[in-house]
Amino acid sequence: MSNSKRVGVLTGGGDAPGLNPAIKGLVYRGSQLGLEVIGLFDGWRSLLNPRPGVLELDRAAVRRWDRDGGTNLGSSRTNPFRQVNQEGRHQDRSDEVLANIEQLRLDAVVACGGEDTLGVAARLSGKGVKVVGIPKTIDKDLAKTDYTLGFDTAMRNVTEILEHSRTPAGSHGWVQIIEVMGRHAGHLALWSGVAGQAHIVLIPEHPFRYERVFQILHDRIGPPGLIPGRAERPRYAVIVVAEGARADDGETITLDDRQDAFGHARLGGIGDVLARKIASGTPYESRAVMLGHPQRGGPPSAVDRIMGLLFGARAAEAVAAGDFGKMVSARGVAPAVELSLVDISEVSGKLQTVDVERYYDTNRYHLKNIGM
Ligand code: F6P
Repeated sequence: MSNSKRVGVLTGGGDAPGLNPAIKGLVYRGSQLGLEVIGLFDGWRSLLNPRPGVLELDRAAVRRWDRDGGTNLGSSRTNPFRQVNQEGRHQDRSDEVLANIEQLRLDAVVACGGEDTLGVAARLSGKGVKVVGIPKTIDKDLAKTDYTLGFDTAMRNVTEILEHSRTPAGSHGWVQIIEVMGRHAGHLALWSGVAGQAHIVLIPEHPFRYERVFQILHDRIGPPGLIPGRAERPRYAVIVVAEGARADDGETITLDDRQDAFGHARLGGIGDVLARKIASGTPYESRAVMLGHPQRGGPPSAVDRIMGLLFGARAAEAVAAGDFGKMVSARGVAPAVELSLVDISEVSGKLQTVDVERYYDTNRYHLKNIGM
């Protein structure tokens, strides 16, 4: 009888750079601790409808994964507790997950995901499944951890776009609006807005007033028609708006009325709404762009590579030690980081949003105390 444990690993929810390094970390550290790692495709879907055959993840298989963005295992927003049956009704199919874990002879499951994926992990843990969670979301809104995989790379991507948006905006004298992801939390909008020196940042945590946005624009930009190159005042401005931001007299804007398996609407469109308001409420022309999925694309940043490898290795240690029902949690971010395990049940249902009091200037719509 060998002491080795067979572990399934899956990635759920939106893809994020850092997931593949995490899997590499799990496999590499796991290989030292006697773990056999099996890749499960497309999040929890793989445990509802397992494909024939399994993907053995040994050191050779994942050797190059540290460089890959997205997730090489695929992802989905599958909720086994809320499946739609043929009559269109919601059905709890979580018992099938338990049966398939048994059929695949898995001793444990490592789930990499955000609130939804880890919420499923927590509920399965309550039903006796041995789970370890790894935190991932570009929104960085998970409770009980200072870092979630993907955030740093998304910040890099958004900052680069902000930089690139200056020249067209300056050349044409526009107010350029960049709509970024962030359903409930404005971490990505705020910190990339600082890095890319946007002039206004609008976040879900603090409903904004159009009149105040107009005023800030007036204060920055001179009257329209200033001569380019000789203008003493800037001719343009850049606004970052999180998709979940809303005006104090308005609703959150959604793309359509569909919902995912976790009951979330697809957000998007606040940038366009804001551009139209600016065009009618100020003398300035405005353009909006919704960054969409490419903002979480591309190779992982150095921080996401390091954090992924560390999270994966720590998850392997938790499995080897039989420490289940936990999520790997970071205090601080690499290189000044300390990892620990927290109860996975404490993570779900509580989001970590921007601490407005501490960070957000509700008059200037920007990070506090940086003179913006
Ligand atoms: O939860 C992460 C996230 O990137 C949110 O910011 C965004 O609302 C959502 O995913 C986008 O969903 P999808 O990837 O299904 O389009």
